Amino acid sequence: MERRDFLVTGCQAGLGLCLTALLGESCGTAAYFAQMTVETDKISVRKSEFQYLKKEAIQERSYVFVKPAGAAFPICLYKKDNQYTACLMKCTHKGCEVEVQGSRYVCPCHGSEFSTAGALLEGPAERPLKTFKTTEDENAVYIWVA
Ligand code: FES
Repeated sequence: MERRDFLVTGCQAGLGLCLTALLGESCGTAAYFAQMTVETDKISVRKSEFQYLKKEAIQERSYVFVKPAGAAFPICLYKKDNQYTACLMKCTHKGCEVEVQGSRYVCPCHGSEFSTAGALLEGPAERPLKTFKTTEDENAVYIWVA
């Protein structure tokens, strides 16, 4: 590789990292897989899993992932306005794993976009994401998978 090619490639990689940082929570707190309890019909996630310490202050995550053993795709449990939604992160177009980008899910394969409640916003996918009913009590959120 020529020095010029190396510099160009390095700058492109750096630009990609900067864009990634600007697009939301894709660095640092991203991809946090929560501790969970899996039962026959539901997955329980303690609400404290949404919290983390930063500079000695408690911060709140917008979302956590859960992925039971043997599952091909994670479920994203998203918290917005104190409401929880749970979506399977499998694109309904051709089955790629969708990613969180700010307050929407985006498929890296062909660009489909979904709301954090799973609604289809942009094709080529034609169906919403698979969603799961959620309930909660004082301490935990329950994802009903059965
Ligand atoms: S697999 Fe997601 S848009 Fe094609």
